[in-house]
Amino acid sequence: MLKRNPRIANLSSGYLFPEISKRRAAYAKAHPEAKIISLGIGNTTEPLTPHIVSALHAEVSRLGTPEGYSGYGDETGLAALRAKIAEVLYENRVSADEVFISDGAKCDIGRLQYLFGPDAKVCVQDPAYPVYVDGSVMAGAAGPAASGASGYAGIVYMPCTAANGFFPDLALVPENSLIYFCSPNNPTGAVATREQLTSLVRVAREKSSIIIFDSAYSAFIRDPALPRSIFEIPGARECSIEVNSFSKPIGFTGVRLGWSIVPRELSFADGTPVAADWTRLMTTIFNGASNIAQQGGLASLDEQGIAETLALTDYYLENARLIRETLSGENFRNAGVSIFGGDNAPYVWARFPGRKSWEIFDLILDSCHVVCTPGAGFGPAGEEFIRFSSFGHRAQVSEACSRLSKLILS
Ligand SMILES: Cc1ncc(COP(=O)(O)O)c(C=O)c1O
Repeated sequence: MLKRNPRIANLSSGYLFPEISKRRAAYAKAHPEAKIISLGIGNTTEPLTPHIVSALHAEVSRLGTPEGYSGYGDETGLAALRAKIAEVLYENRVSADEVFISDGAKCDIGRLQYLFGPDAKVCVQDPAYPVYVDGSVMAGAAGPAASGASGYAGIVYMPCTAANGFFPDLALVPENSLIYFCSPNNPTGAVATREQLTSLVRVAREKSSIIIFDSAYSAFIRDPALPRSIFEIPGARECSIEVNSFSKPIGFTGVRLGWSIVPRELSFADGTPVAADWTRLMTTIFNGASNIAQQGGLASLDEQGIAETLALTDYYLENARLIRETLSGENFRNAGVSIFGGDNAPYVWARFPGRKSWEIFDLILDSCHVVCTPGAGFGPAGEEFIRFSSFGHRAQVSEACSRLSKLILS
């Protein structure tokens, strides 16, 4: 028999969300009467919007005709979509040939690990979206989980806490490292300011490091002073890759469509352009995003699509506001709970001082029949925190809020 890949064996317990599903299923089995509501996973719930649906239909119909049918497309994406992303979302700060269309940001994050290989020194915000860490472990860029709750060997965790405004101490960034940075942040809901990103870019350049900037939630930014892309920051082109997605802005979590930006100035130590290897990699182990999905993405970037995207993201932001309002209630205030995020991001991050986050998870599941996400699942600094997701139908979110408002937190 072939031996198990030891790098995969290095992963500790299950990936966070399957673990939550397991606990939820066990609870539901033991309490079949409980009407469980999830404010846990960041999965979209609202239907695709009309303009995008008609673009998807039109492409399906076109593919059903002899003259309109097409098979494999360009592995790096539809030229019109690449150009539209560069123009509408990046105001031409990047060019169409620097945009690589994919089947989603998570998939790109996984493939980026191949680009840098097992010798890459990885540095993450703590807490962080689990894929940065788990993907690094699978690629061999990190060792097994250290004992206790201190994370994986070889990964540099940069704590993001209430005390530092959820922006890390950049003195922790090692030389020649790969810095995963997410803004608007999952799970903290924090959005880095222009000044903060300017310092991040400066440090990355000083330390010959590359930032992988995950802006999957940029469509939720409402404050015009906050940057939506790392490429709004001078100097970022020489040290950054950006990944983004149509999942959250237009509900393409199941349809699957995303992109990465690899600027032509970015190169490896030996002078090879990173974009050259990324093109090679994408054309080798990826075969292009769905042509149907790409037409939907394209429609989302015209006038009507932009209006629909705004309305859809506003819907989730209103849910986030309701959750924030609930968590500001007397029962939470008396327990010393403080809340963050949820204004320019779909996640509300709440701190329950002195309590373990899995303990709060169990309490909320048991008392309110509401599933949330324990902060410890996102990294050592997530202990004492709970993430509430605003992705849900309004009626369900309102019902969850009503139950939470009665939670006894003695
Ligand atoms: C920070 C972050 N990046 C990327 C993704 C995944 O995006 P996609 O659906 O495009 O793979 C998620 C999904 O929850 C996320 O939270």
